[in-house]
Amino acid sequence: MDHLYDLKIRSMEIKDITQVLAIEKDAFPNLFPSTNFRTEISRNISQCIVAEISEDRLLDHSDFQYRDGYTGQNDDDRFIVAYSVTWEIAGENHIISIGVRRRYLRLGIGMKMMRSIISESVKNTNQSITLEVRPSNDAAKILYEKLNFQVVGRRNKYYSDNLEDALIMTLDLQNQNTN
Ligand SMILES: CC(C)(COP(=O)(O)OP(=O)(O)OC[C@H]1O[C@@H](n2cnc3c(N)ncnc32)[C@H](O)[C@@H]1OP(=O)(O)O)[C@@H](O)C(=O)NCCC(=O)NCCS
Repeated sequence: MDHLYDLKIRSMEIKDITQVLAIEKDAFPNLFPSTNFRTEISRNISQCIVAEISEDRLLDHSDFQYRDGYTGQNDDDRFIVAYSVTWEIAGENHIISIGVRRRYLRLGIGMKMMRSIISESVKNTNQSITLEVRPSNDAAKILYEKLNFQVVGRRNKYYSDNLEDALIMTLDLQNQNTN
């Protein structure tokens, strides 16, 4: 994690969208169409955040290719390594999407994003956080389980690409400690 010492989580801005779209495409290769992040940023119920570092520090260490062949970064942008979109509705925060740059996986960034979502949700007096996850998505399931999310239900044939069910996972925030 040394190379991520300056990781900062902040609200998503319009100028971030090209990078966020590149991350989304890489994290969800079957998603079509892409999320309209411009709409998400302006939606009242929506919280869009990104995790950024000052530069792509893993650049020199591999011949890794992004699926679109580019990172979405302009010269003067900081380098975005993750994004998430959540919707607050009637005391519940719903995680619509969370993705980490493929080359930056397993560095604790997803956990940091989730902890940020949890502490914001508590601050905004939500009672719970809910999300859908594919039963086959072990990485995400393990991450959510580590944060005490519980499986509370299932949506049949929820994902249109392969008709996979979705597990519904919820974190009860009533007694959540944000420290
Ligand atoms: C799920 C996702 C956000 C996790 O992001 P990440 O930054 O790699 O996760 P972290 O490094 O913070 O991992 C935290 C813990 O989750 C678990 N975990 C994460 N990825 C894992 C994997 N591939 N296999 C097993 N456990 C994993 C581990 O317990 C990990 O802790 P550890 O590395 O100390 O063992 C990332 O894999 C991703 O963007 N996936 C594609 C998009 C997606 O599926 N989003 C979720 C949709 S519901």
